Amino acid sequence: MMRGVRKVPVAVFVSGFGSNLEKLLQLEKEDPAWPCAVQLVVSDKPEARAVTLARDFGVDVFARRPKDFASKADYETAILAELRSRQVEWVVLAGYMRIVGEVLLDAYSGRMVNIHPSLLPAFPGLRAIEQAFAAGVRQTGVTVHYVDAGVDTGTILAQKVVNIREGMTLDELEREIHSVEHQIYPEVIRGVVSQEKNVESGADLRA
Ligand code: GRF
Repeated sequence: MMRGVRKVPVAVFVSGFGSNLEKLLQLEKEDPAWPCAVQLVVSDKPEARAVTLARDFGVDVFARRPKDFASKADYETAILAELRSRQVEWVVLAGYMRIVGEVLLDAYSGRMVNIHPSLLPAFPGLRAIEQAFAAGVRQTGVTVHYVDAGVDTGTILAQKVVNIREGMTLDELEREIHSVEHQIYPEVIRGVVSQEKNVESGADLRA
């Protein structure tokens, strides 16, 4: 009898356009060997395009404004309950524009990754592509890293260089960076979730 591949339950956190989310959802839909299943999309911006996209794919969405909660800890505790009720094992940040707080970091330490559009530690924070372009560097790129309490400071998992060619416009650079993101992020996610698929987890994911 054929046994199905176990899909690792993941959540994707977004705030904006959602092109990285889209790539992950497409892979899940189209590639039987893809090892993850998105159980929940979390957005701090209910009006984000990424939220509409998630709903179009039939994925559960938690889209609530942090300011509607008494504290950041309360906001994250509400998210954590949703993650735990779906047995989510990995959290993938894809354009989530908030610093993750203690509640989620404690629960998903070593199981939360982010993608950033520069070669960290260069150009952390907002508008990294513009920062690199304005600085006149000849090379920038994409970094995938574990999430810690800092801004784009966690341990680096992978990086890919993008050359800024003579005469290249900011638009062209942005397009190239995003296309590299859509390639590197799935590769890294596949790697980290697969590596420990058969390993007993140390993290406490019980409800
Ligand atoms: C990407 O450039 C990512 O590196 C950064 O935010 C952007 C998200 O884009 N963290 P999208 O919402 O996935 O299209």
